[in-house]
Amino acid sequence: MSNGPLRKVVFPVAGLGTRFLPATKVVAKEMLPVLDRPLIQYAVDEAVDAGADTLIFVTNRYKHAIADYFDKAYELESKLAQSGKDELLALVQGTLPRHVRCVFVTQPEALGLGHAVLCAKPVVGDEPFGVVLADDLIWNAGAGALRQMAEVAQRENAGVLAVEEVPREQTNKYGIVDAEPVSERAARVRLVVEKPKPEVAPSNLAIVGRYVLPGRIFSLLENTKPGAGGEIQLTDAIGELLKESPVLAYRFEGERFDCGNKLGLVQATLHMALKDPQIAGHTAELVRKLAK
Ligand code: UTP
Repeated sequence: MSNGPLRKVVFPVAGLGTRFLPATKVVAKEMLPVLDRPLIQYAVDEAVDAGADTLIFVTNRYKHAIADYFDKAYELESKLAQSGKDELLALVQGTLPRHVRCVFVTQPEALGLGHAVLCAKPVVGDEPFGVVLADDLIWNAGAGALRQMAEVAQRENAGVLAVEEVPREQTNKYGIVDAEPVSERAARVRLVVEKPKPEVAPSNLAIVGRYVLPGRIFSLLENTKPGAGGEIQLTDAIGELLKESPVLAYRFEGERFDCGNKLGLVQATLHMALKDPQIAGHTAELVRKLAK
């Protein structure tokens, strides 16, 4: 993998989001808010923090809201400007820094995460790139998870997968790695298996929604057949990648909330509310009351 800063980040947002139906009939899962910001905003901020200047959204035909969200809102902005609501105007204009551009590509059919990533090939080319799944919200007080991973990828000249220990009984929900520790947070991946049953899982170290990958992954994805769940799995292509170049599993610093399910979204919301100076006190009180 060639050394260099991480400039391009892919956001696969073309999934069906069935766990949030009926809301996701019309609202993309990535537009669900945690407090006042949609999940995709947290993901984009993390990518920008990692140095990205080109954001590639893999969308489907129902997800115009994401493009609209990052576009200029002329009418709203001029109304806020006229009425002197400068703080709100700054919020509306601040969804994306000026030096960052967005590219939208379509995944015509939801054939799996691997297929969604492959749809970004014409924009990414053969340079290393990041993949961020916005429904995994990762909060860290210091450097974001993707920045931590980009630094490791650059230093070690390797692909990097974010991993976290999960309860054994949940291995069938994740890509699971078998990896040999090389430092406090990094381990060299020997094997990856998509959604293994607990009794055959090689470990309980699960891949979560952050990847730094070389452009070579696209050729491997082109030859990846449908795997678990009949979908083209990114994990299967990574399994081929690690036969030819190093891939590290990296235990990032930060707290992950799986906002692809209801409980995770509630946890993320409470976490962020307890960090918001305006509502932290009331939220803490509410939590105490409910716990009684
Ligand atoms: P999920 O496995 O969470 O699927 O996808 P989903 O469709 O979004 O949600 P559920 O399970 O039906 O509730 C993981 C990530 O991969 C993207 C999703 O948008 C999500 O960010 N994805 C998945 C695609 O972009 N295309 C696909 O074909 C599948």
